[in-house]
Formats: sequence, C-alpha cells, structure tokens
Amino acid sequence: MIGSEPPTKIPAHVAIIMDGNGRWARRRALPRIMGHRQGVKTVKRIVTAARELGIGVLTLYAFSMENWRRPDEEVGALMGLLYDYLEGELDEMLGRNISFRAIGDLERLPERVRSKLYDTIDKTSENSGMILNLALSYGGRAEIARAARRLVEMCVSGAMRPDEIDEQAVAGCLDTADLPDPDLIIRTSGEMRLSNFLLFQAAYAEFYITDTLWPDFSRDELLRALHDYAGRERRFGLTSEQVYQKCIPKGS
Ligand code: IPE
Ligand code: IPE
Ligand code: MG
Repeated sequence: MIGSEPPTKIPAHVAIIMDGNGRWARRRALPRIMGHRQGVKTVKRIVTAARELGIGVLTLYAFSMENWRRPDEEVGALMGLLYDYLEGELDEMLGRNISFRAIGDLERLPERVRSKLYDTIDKTSENSGMILNLALSYGGRAEIARAARRLVEMCVSGAMRPDEIDEQAVAGCLDTADLPDPDLIIRTSGEMRLSNFLLFQAAYAEFYITDTLWPDFSRDELLRALHDYAGRERRFGLTSEQVYQKCIPKGS
C-alpha cells in the first residue's frame, strides 16, 4: 500500500502546529483539558514515530504567546501537563537518544516548569539521535523583536557594524540559531494559518494541512505528510528546469 513505508527523502526538520485539542473534547462533550490530555498522548506517539523515521529535528508548537490570554484555568492545566510530560518522558528521551530543546519566551513560564525544562535540556544535551524542540510561550514576531534588540546591542557595544547585519546575522540571533529551517510544516485541525509560528524560518517551508484533530493524529498520517512532501518540487525561486539541472551531477 502506498504510504505504509517511509519515503526515501525525509525532511531534516519537521515542525507541527498541534491544533484541535479543544474541538476534540467539545465533540465528546468533555472539558477542553481532556483534549489537551489526549494531545499529550499524540505527542508521545509522534515523537517516537519521528525518531524511528529518521527526522533530524522535530519542532512542536505547544503554547503560543497569544495562548497566555486563555482562561487561567486552562493555562494552569497546560503548564501542569507540560511539567508531567517532561518528568515522565526523560527516561524515554535518554533511552532513544533524543536531545530536548525549547524556543520562545521561556522567562514567562512558571518557575517550577522552567527549571524542569532547563533540567531536561541539560540532561539530554549530549544525545544525538534527534532534536525534539518545543515551542513554548513562543511568538514569531516577539522572537524577531528579541533578535533585533540583540543586534542593536551588539552594534552599540561595537561588536558588530550595522552594515554587517544580513539575513544570516538575523537568523543567528533567533531562538533557532543552530537549527536548520523547517522543511515541512504540518498543521492539524484544518486551519490555514501560521498563528505566529516560525515566521522568519518558514520562508521556504512546505505546508501540509490536515483536517484531523491533533489528538487523532497518527504515525500513518505523519507518513502521508512525508510522502506528500517527498513528491513535491522545491524550487526556491528557480525554474523547474534549473532545479532539474542541479540534480544532475556535473560532467555527466
Ligand atoms: C491546540 O489545541 C493546543 C494549544 C493551542 C495549546 P487548541 O486548544 O487550540 O484546540 P482548538 O483549536 O480550540 O480546537
Ligand atoms: C496555535 O494554535 C498555537 C499552538 C498550536 C500552540 P491556536 O489554536 O492558538 O491558534 P489560533 O488562535 O486558532 O490561530
Ligand atoms: Mg486552536
């Protein structure tokens, strides 16, 4: 069956906007938090699948800057789930050689969660099998503003000249400085928007949007997204002919 085997071309960096937990719960007349709880199970499933499939970096959008404006009860419950996830998954990450990272305005997170986060990053930092990168308290615009501030500070201190600020310099000041740009961005639950996710880094990412709600997202559906991605031609502004020429080794 097409799609049951992984494609040969696997993206180096897959980023997922995990959306639809609330709707999953509402359809079952359950409180929203039950949808988030189910969503954590999907996270575990997809991290395992991504590791097995050889994805180098998996970035999961878990909590946006704007999500702070949700009801206190929901925000509190999400922070609790995050803490429990980190605590419960450390051994799994160590066992599977997964290096854990986080991007976003982490200073806004509750102290208990933040120290658990730094502890997990620290304990898994030597792992080399896959990078699991959580976007937490993350907003693309805020990240770009932080990078701009850093660049200005470097210019003011004399460490850099304004004419040295180019795309690479900006990228180097983002939270994702040492990560490749996402090749594939998946969004669940059918919404056709970025919601402030990786605005700078997504410049040439391929998009895959599915109506499946995040709690129902599966390894099979991830495979479908990977097959879809593998069948696309990424032109980066070039013509199709130029891309084809580039694939032919010189001299042949
Ligand atoms: C995604 O699910 C999880 C977070 C944003 C934290 P939602 O909670 O946004 O679910 P919907 O969009 O209301 O269905
Ligand atoms: C995006 O989902 C953020 C996360 C998945 C963490 P939202 O549910 O917050 O996005 P909008 O509000 O529908 O754009
Ligand atoms: Mg949503």
